Amino acid sequence: MDKKIALVTGGSRGIGKACALELAKAGYDVAINYVGNEEAANQTVFELKKFGGNAEAFRFDVTNKEAVENGIKEIVGKYGRIDVLVNNAGITRDGLFMLMSADNWESVINTNLNSAYYVTKPIAKIMTKQQSGAIINMSSIIGIYGNAGQANYATAKAGLIGFTKALAKELAGRNIRVNAIAPGFIQTDMTKDLKLDGIYDHIPLKRLGQPEDIAKAVKFLAEDAQYVTGQVLQVDGGLVI
Ligand code: NAI
Repeated sequence: MDKKIALVTGGSRGIGKACALELAKAGYDVAINYVGNEEAANQTVFELKKFGGNAEAFRFDVTNKEAVENGIKEIVGKYGRIDVLVNNAGITRDGLFMLMSADNWESVINTNLNSAYYVTKPIAKIMTKQQSGAIINMSSIIGIYGNAGQANYATAKAGLIGFTKALAKELAGRNIRVNAIAPGFIQTDMTKDLKLDGIYDHIPLKRLGQPEDIAKAVKFLAEDAQYVTGQVLQVDGGLVI
């Protein structure tokens, strides 16, 4: 069989970058999507290529349906197939609900949840034709347990879990598996400004997660977990048991 292809959205830094690297290490050609930082995207591509496979960055905004469709057309035009999709792109716009602007609500729902519709729709078609594929949605423990000050984010991440389970049931007959990962606190740009004093008291493994901890779970769900679908894998150091 030809080489396997993976697409990671928001793949130029943080968790997405680590996932892209782990998949490249596992022998995939990797397409990363990014929206703004071309330099970071190029640097990630450079690092990905060190594993010997092909790698390329594709610039499109995952909240823009047409841009997503065009981006995916371009990727499939070049690589011919997509075996693994990691819906990773995400943002936070935290604030108490009573003070939350509609803009902050909508941008978080669009980026974290509606993007999964835009990106997965054309790729599910391709995977259906292939009769194989693995889709991994980056949810969060906040989507399972909630968090004051994150109503928008919790809603989007909970939505991704419903999406994961429904799609797993729809696509299993086509040999496409759909799973979600729910990370705890992972050390990335997203969490760098959070006040995490005392957090270690609540994390049984006594450390923050690293992007690589999530990447290994992604590789597991993509490659090894051939009898696993519709699941939400918490990778949180035991934060919520
Ligand atoms: P990050 O901020 O470093 O990475 C997010 C990536 O998404 C960036 O590359 C960003 O450019 C990209 N992105 C944002 N909006 C986009 C758009 N409109 N189009 C294309 N790309 C876009 O954050 P991190 O931590 O690496 O987050 C990755 C995912 O993991 C997110 O979905 C996040 O919600 C989730 N997550 C992170 C946790 C953490 O503790 N860091 C915990 C739970 C979930």
